Amino acid sequence: MNNIATIMQHQSRGIERIIEGVATSDGAGVKLTRVLSGKLQKRLDPFLMLDAFSSDNPDDYIAGFPDHPHRGFETVTYMLSGRMRHRDSAGHEGLLENGGVQWMTAGRGVIHSEIPEQEDGVMEGFQLWLNLPAQHKMAAPWYRDFPSGEIPEYVTPQGVTVRVIAGNSNGVAGAVTREVTEPLYLDIHVPAGAEFSTALPDTHNAFIYVYRGAVTVEGVHVASRRMGILSNPGSLGNASGADNVTLAATEETRLILLAGKPLNEPIVQYGPFVMNTQQEIHQALNDFNNGHFA
Ligand code: CO
Repeated sequence: MNNIATIMQHQSRGIERIIEGVATSDGAGVKLTRVLSGKLQKRLDPFLMLDAFSSDNPDDYIAGFPDHPHRGFETVTYMLSGRMRHRDSAGHEGLLENGGVQWMTAGRGVIHSEIPEQEDGVMEGFQLWLNLPAQHKMAAPWYRDFPSGEIPEYVTPQGVTVRVIAGNSNGVAGAVTREVTEPLYLDIHVPAGAEFSTALPDTHNAFIYVYRGAVTVEGVHVASRRMGILSNPGSLGNASGADNVTLAATEETRLILLAGKPLNEPIVQYGPFVMNTQQEIHQALNDFNNGHFA
């Protein structure tokens, strides 16, 4: 009798493309690397933006992000190191620090500020923009802080530590679950010489961003501060049966892994507003200028 496990071989997605981010600044002059934006929004639907920030120079972050609006998507801020105070027009306030996550659904609109509460030391982390489906773009705003201790974590037999911010990895449910886009957001710490695998639904677009060390995926090297877009099952150069991602680290490595189900809806962005049509963007500007954001 055949053992089913020997027939159902797991197979990893490969690396389709390596992306080097663009150095820029945002807010009141916060220096950051924009890893995902513009043309990649279609390829990595439902993800709209990924900014990586990392500096021990206060001049790079001290001014923070004063009051600004958002409509039509979710912002997920993951603070590896540092302290930032959030306030918004829906009445939410919170302190985001070392290892914590702030998940904000802007929905029909919020005005918020994110201001550092430190005058020196390292500030390091990520801000991700996750799109909302058309039918949820005008939903009520939602906000939650997850201090580091509330992020589910597991350790594999090879000593890989996995923090599950969203979705589900190897049976461990994350802090946040979302219908429609079904995001998976992992922070993965891999010791030198170790390997790690996690399942990826074949519907999902996915990528990794290495922020320390380096990994190899299906023989392709992804260096520090690089994004690797994972090829979708059935695409060129990728076996149709790929059902996971398997990565190996030759040195101690830290990376984030994102995957999400594409919305396949039109994306019309004007700065902090992301809607489906130009008309909805005009409406967002009118609403904002007339003080109709919460
Ligand atoms: Co913002």
